[in-house]
Amino acid sequence: KKTINQALVIFGASGDLTYRKLIPAVFDLFMNDSLPEGYAILGVSRTEFSNKQFRKRMKEGIRQFAHYKEAEEKKIDSFLSSVFYLSIDTAKGEEYIYVKKKLSELNKKFNLGHNYIFYLSTPPSLYPIIPKFLYGQGLTLQQKGFRRIIIEKPFGHDLSSAIELNKQLQEFFQEDQIYRIDHYLGKETVQNMLVTRFANGIYEPLWNRNYIQHVEITAAESVGVEDRGGYYDGSGALRDMIQNHLLQVLSLVAMEPPNKITPEEIRYEKMKVFRSLRPLSKTDLKKNVIRGQYTEATVRGKHYKGYREESNVKPDSRTETYAAMKIFIDNWRWEGVPFYIRTGKRLPTQVSEVVIHFRPSPQRLFKAAEGTVHSDNQLILRIQPDEGILLKTGMKVPGSGYEVKSVNMDFHYSDLNDHYIPSAYERLILDCMAGDNMLFMQGAAAEVTWKFVQPILDYWENDKDAPLHGYPAGSWGPDVADDLVEGKENTWRYPC
Ligand code: BG6
Repeated sequence: KKTINQALVIFGASGDLTYRKLIPAVFDLFMNDSLPEGYAILGVSRTEFSNKQFRKRMKEGIRQFAHYKEAEEKKIDSFLSSVFYLSIDTAKGEEYIYVKKKLSELNKKFNLGHNYIFYLSTPPSLYPIIPKFLYGQGLTLQQKGFRRIIIEKPFGHDLSSAIELNKQLQEFFQEDQIYRIDHYLGKETVQNMLVTRFANGIYEPLWNRNYIQHVEITAAESVGVEDRGGYYDGSGALRDMIQNHLLQVLSLVAMEPPNKITPEEIRYEKMKVFRSLRPLSKTDLKKNVIRGQYTEATVRGKHYKGYREESNVKPDSRTETYAAMKIFIDNWRWEGVPFYIRTGKRLPTQVSEVVIHFRPSPQRLFKAAEGTVHSDNQLILRIQPDEGILLKTGMKVPGSGYEVKSVNMDFHYSDLNDHYIPSAYERLILDCMAGDNMLFMQGAAAEVTWKFVQPILDYWENDKDAPLHGYPAGSWGPDVADDLVEGKENTWRYPC
């Protein structure tokens, strides 16, 4: 991708995200020769650091988390010589004059063409404040160079706060200057869904209600809430994973072929999917949406705390750490095809995948081999880990007779000769630097997805009979989730 000289200004630079993800990702871009000739990175935060101290900390982050963590010391130093730090109180408007001064200094030094990206790696409470103060210094107006802003989820806490946040941001930045990160869209395998669907002649003719029985989208994590109890307890699985990441994945699985691969066309088609989500009725809320919370358990000799015992979690918390649902897309292609979505923490394994379940052949001519079930054809798009694609297909068991057994046609990214997979942040930061907003969320998409999940939030919050199922840490979530899946022979896939 072509990028022009520019500065990346990271607010909240003393935080974890900068250390673990952002600087390592920008360093990887540097190693891959993707940064422009003139660039500068300015970390801004309240914590006092000198440039030297900040660089030292960033070097530790690179050594731990970058793809090129083993790079020569002098490469890292050369990269870090364009990294600077500025300490201000980001909640005080008058201090933004220092940001402006520093940027004009860097601008001269590195010939940046007044092109600036502002990355808000801060608590969401600062999302409306920082743009206002940048605007106050004239830093948001694109007169001489470009000005872009990147924000991370959560984009609001519910529908009304999402609308409010969009309004606040759009007061100081034009919508096309705003880059809302959903890091799932930065994943190579998520982008590959478009290629699988639209670069192959064989899938797309089958990609509809006539041949697909149902679709599963799973994002399972084996970790618990770790040290994020404070944030997570006010959020829960629905807000944390489904409203954003999993509905984004769903839109790529379900969208119509775009006319062209351009941001406008792709975003337009995704938006149509969101608008076609069938609103959940009262009955759907009761029958088709399930929430759970992990309870303590000992798995293979290891003891795991229950969610309520985690630090910064209320002892009587009703926050869900698991959510599963059956939903429908009311359009021509998908009428009547259930989409099952599930996510949870403290499940048996870490895996994110999409499973396309094709309808069975019209007649069962062959017997399933002993000890096997005659399973439907499945196309499994493995998002992570072990990125790849797997097609399950029926094959004759060698020997006399005609017994059939399901076998795997399996492709692993790790089998590619050159299988460098850029991290999601690497890809997304580069895209923003190049002014390509295809993989970023539009304000309107954030609102329409909140609109879809809002009735669930309301039901869980207001109806005291809305069940919250416990599930033992290390299990696949509440048993009742199994009943969601229609059809006697159908269950969730349980990858190991
Ligand atoms: C984040 C959530 O957005 O995504 C986390 O806040 C979750 O709770 C994470 O663990 C999962 O991302 P990934 O890339 O590990 O699947």
